Amino acid sequence: MKINGKNCLKKSNNLTAGGQLWKEVKQEVDYLLKPQVLSEAEQHVRAANLSRIVLIDNLQNAIETENPSQAEIASFQNRKGHRLTWKAYHRLADIHDFFDVLAKTYPDICSVETIGYSLQKRPLKILKISNGNPGNPGIWIDGGMHAREWISPATVTFIANQLVEGWDDMPEYMRNVNWYIHAVANPDGYEYTHTTDRLWRKNMRSHGRQCPGVDLNRNFGYKWGGKGTSANPCSQTYRGSKAFSEPETFYISKFISNYPRDTFHAYLSFHSYGQYILYPWGYDYHLTSDKSDLDRVARQAGTTITKQSGGKYTIGSSATTLYPAAGGSDDWAKGFVGIKYSYTIEMGDTGRYGFVLPASHIESNGRDGYTFVDTVARAVTQGKYSRKRAF
Ligand code: ARG
Ligand code: ZN
Repeated sequence: MKINGKNCLKKSNNLTAGGQLWKEVKQEVDYLLKPQVLSEAEQHVRAANLSRIVLIDNLQNAIETENPSQAEIASFQNRKGHRLTWKAYHRLADIHDFFDVLAKTYPDICSVETIGYSLQKRPLKILKISNGNPGNPGIWIDGGMHAREWISPATVTFIANQLVEGWDDMPEYMRNVNWYIHAVANPDGYEYTHTTDRLWRKNMRSHGRQCPGVDLNRNFGYKWGGKGTSANPCSQTYRGSKAFSEPETFYISKFISNYPRDTFHAYLSFHSYGQYILYPWGYDYHLTSDKSDLDRVARQAGTTITKQSGGKYTIGSSATTLYPAAGGSDDWAKGFVGIKYSYTIEMGDTGRYGFVLPASHIESNGRDGYTFVDTVARAVTQGKYSRKRAF
């Protein structure tokens, strides 16, 4: 059962063993509880005079109905030469094949690069989309850093597909960008959520007999080891043995650092859930000196999303809006690389389904994600290309 209740639930010891914390922001928590601890939780809620709502009564049932059946997925197939749809969540192979098919079908604008391999030797595969001008501002997009956040790779591939399929009719501010799209930054974890444990978050690093996994979004080399990170391998937010100890984060940093410093103008990291557009800093409650630029563009995106789909996104710095957490990719992009527009966007939903969001929600999230990316691209090119030349 997934419930939403007041924060003090956390302090009930047995609940920590019989439950899993999904989300904790300000005075609210989302908790997944085992049946054995339900009555105890109930008592605790009553005794402490807290309020709670049941969001998912039977999680197994939600997991089983989240994705259409294989037969249904097969019936969605199009004639575009790949198996990806935005009506279902797909395995890694479908996503990687999709990238390969785009590169083959649109060789003038698309190419694929494997920037390294995960711990279990899966390729870390990036799709580049470009009109071929090396002087364009670069925008980096990643998804799937946390394995269970399935809406993230689905949204990122939706955006890639929109860009490529709609390229000829794109405004100049979208075509004059070099796009670098890493849809599944944690491929081992992603596959594990499909085969074994739907709610796995970290990568698959093994530490001998101890609990496996490193939280990749605590493993980046900026203020590594600070607030909101754990040195305990069993923690969901285990930071790893050192900054960039994990191949999945190391190869991202290597890829980006190999380009001249002014190559990337935006770094966009897609997560879920909660519907937030977040900017640095994440490691602590400080703000950047250009915070008003980051805030303005995020608000523009939020307003446009609400106008177009009705979706509401909360905007602010990561630490103040959610919680401090050091070693995030966004802080590293901003603080170490110097990329101005560095954001983490938490896609849907706001809590009804949490990580187990039915696949019927992919397309609306995809459109919202696209609006966000469009708004950032416009800010990056700053009207340079959007105004008509005099002649
Ligand atoms: N939900 C994300 C996480 O916990 C938020 C990351 C925000 N960025 C940050 N640097 N803390 O990883
Ligand atoms: Zn995440």
